[in-house]
Amino acid sequence: MERVLGIIGGSGVYGIEGLQDARWQAVDTPWGTPSDEILTGRHDGVSMAFLPRHGRGHVHAPGDVPYRANIDALKRLGVTDLVSVSACGSFREEMAPGDFVIVDQFVDRTRGRPSSFFGSGCVAHVGLAHPVCGRLAEAAAEAAEAAGATVHRGGTYLAMEGPQFSPQAESLLYRDWGCDVIGMTNMPEVRLAREAEICYATVAMVTDYDSWHPGHEAVDVASVLATLAANVAKARAFAAALPGALGAERAPCPHGCDRALESAIMTAPER
Ligand code: ADE
Repeated sequence: MERVLGIIGGSGVYGIEGLQDARWQAVDTPWGTPSDEILTGRHDGVSMAFLPRHGRGHVHAPGDVPYRANIDALKRLGVTDLVSVSACGSFREEMAPGDFVIVDQFVDRTRGRPSSFFGSGCVAHVGLAHPVCGRLAEAAAEAAEAAGATVHRGGTYLAMEGPQFSPQAESLLYRDWGCDVIGMTNMPEVRLAREAEICYATVAMVTDYDSWHPGHEAVDVASVLATLAANVAKARAFAAALPGALGAERAPCPHGCDRALESAIMTAPER
């Protein structure tokens, strides 16, 4: 079957270079309007769909991103494999600003964000023990290395509500919990991608040491943006290398992400 590769770009990542037949498309969904139009096209023979998570001009705060509309719109465009590229803080000395972390686990501390397509008469419980698709994550790691990034394979992402950065006590707590990086947006995206039976992986680009590190200033927006600007060239090279690393043909997911609802506990919709 044909692969359609989706990329959701976080702060500072607002497009993909070198797309053939590129055009921005408006997509409507029953969950409302996505963050922005979606840029579609082909790269290395692979169909691609790119969505800026915060919208062009950065108009959606992390808690206000229309996550369900975004995932639904990408599904409607046929996206089979979805990679998030976003800025994060680091809880580990060795995960330094500029490095890319290929996250494989999450702790969710967001609050009040609609986080399921199900409910109201049709309940489903998909498995989320392994929230990231291992096949897609490996391709993402290869593409990130090809882009010249220092890559860490595996890491736990603490999703916080924001929009403020963490108090130092929380930063120290999350570090003690065993979390590796922190960001504001990957939840509920990862949950919704699984419900939509889309393979999902996430590339966390480290911009700062949050506020736990005695040798570094506590994070602020200016320092995040400065490091992010330096990361953008790598993020662009990553997006250009990923389609080639994956290829246009797609075998069924060996981890079953694309069949998640087959093994979910579901009730029939009410009549
Ligand atoms: N995004 C970039 N750096 C971050 C941090 N320290 N906390 C939350 N989100 C971030």
